[in-house]
Amino acid sequence: PVVAVILAGGTGSRLYPASRSDRPKQFLALGDPDDDRSLLARTADRTGFADATLVATRPEFADEVPEHAPNAEVVVEPAGKDTGPAILYATHRAREAVDGEREPVVVVLPADHHVPDGDAFEATMARGARVAGDTGRLVAFGVEPTRPATGYGYIEPGADRTTEHGAVAYRELAAFHEKPDADRAAEYVDSGYYWNAGIFAWTPAALFEQARDTPLAPLVAELDGDDPDPAAGFEAVSPVSIDYAVMERADRAAVVPAAFAWDDLGAWDALDRVLDPDGDGNVVAGDAEALAVDAADNVVAGDDTHVSLVGVDGLCVVAYDDRVLVVPKADAQRVRDAVDRLKESG
Ligand code: GDD
Ligand code: MG
Repeated sequence: PVVAVILAGGTGSRLYPASRSDRPKQFLALGDPDDDRSLLARTADRTGFADATLVATRPEFADEVPEHAPNAEVVVEPAGKDTGPAILYATHRAREAVDGEREPVVVVLPADHHVPDGDAFEATMARGARVAGDTGRLVAFGVEPTRPATGYGYIEPGADRTTEHGAVAYRELAAFHEKPDADRAAEYVDSGYYWNAGIFAWTPAALFEQARDTPLAPLVAELDGDDPDPAAGFEAVSPVSIDYAVMERADRAAVVPAAFAWDDLGAWDALDRVLDPDGDGNVVAGDAEALAVDAADNVVAGDDTHVSLVGVDGLCVVAYDDRVLVVPKADAQRVRDAVDRLKESG
C-alpha cells in the first residue's frame, strides 16, 4: 500500500506578508488565477496514486487543515521542528494508517508546489513508490535545473539502474547538497545534477534505518521504543530539515526523474515563472492591480491594492493588510531574514 503524507506545517516566511503566522502559505491560493483553492487543497487533489492520505502539521494549524483536505487524516506533530522530525513522525504514523501485514511505501509531498499536470505527476509518484518498495532505497525525485537556484537541494546522480529494474528508470543517488551558495549551485548545474523536488518515497523501515545515525537519532529511538512518547521525542531534537538531517547523509538512496512540470511557490520570484506576464514582463498576482510606466520584469502581489511602478526593474512589490514588502527578485529567498528580524523585534 502507498500512503501520501502532505507537509503542511511550515510558516511560509518567504511569502510574507501574504503569509503570516496565522495564515501560512499552504492555506493561500497562489500561482493560478483560475484556481481559488489553497495550495494544500490542490496538493491533496493530486494524491490519487495513494491508498491513504495524511496531512502532517503543527498544533497551531491543525484545526484549519480539514477544510482544505477533507479526505485526509490529520497528523499533528507535538511541536514545529521543521521537516526532519515532522516527516519521521508522520512516516511512523503511516504504518497505522493502512492496516495489513505489508509495510507501506510513504510518499512525502510538500504543499507549496505548482504542478499543472496532475496525471503526469501521479504517474511519476506511482513509479517512485515502486522503486522505493522494491529496492528499500530512499527515493528522491529529480528535476532538470534551469538556473543556479540557491533555494533548492541538488542531487548528483550515480549508477544508472534502469535496466536492472525493468521499465522503471532510476539512478543511484551519489550525493545530495542542500541549498548551496550561488557558485556551488552553478557548478552543480554545469555538472548535470538534478534539483531535488522535495518529494520523497520510502518505506518506514528504510527511513528509520537511514535516520538512526543522524541528528534525528533521539526521535528515532523514542518512536522505535516499546511505549513511544512523541512529545518527549520532539523535545529531544532540534529543528532540522529532512534534507540536512537525512538526505545529505543517506547511503542507500535513489533518484527518479520528475517527468512533470514543476515549480516551488515558496518565494515571490516564483510567480514570475508561473504567471503570464504583460508586454513588459511584469506579473500581477492576487487581487492587486498595477500601473507600470517604464517598468519591466517586476512581480506585484497584494489584496485589493493598487501599485504604481515607475522606472523600476526586477522587483517584487507585495502589499497585504497593512504591510508592504519590496525586494529584488534575485533576493526573494532572503525575505526569511526580514521575517526573523520582525519576530525578534516583536
Ligand atoms: N508538518 C510540517 N512541520 N511541515 C513543515 C514544517 C514543519 O515543521 N516545516 C516546513 N514544512 C512544510 C512546508 O509547509 C512545505 O510544504 C514543506 O514542508 C517544504 O518546506 P519548505 O520550507 O518549502 O522547503 P524548501 O522549499 O525550502 O526546500 C525543500 O524543497 C525544495 C523543493 O521545493 C527541500 O527539500 C529542497 O531540497 C528542495 O529542493
Ligand atoms: Mg518549498
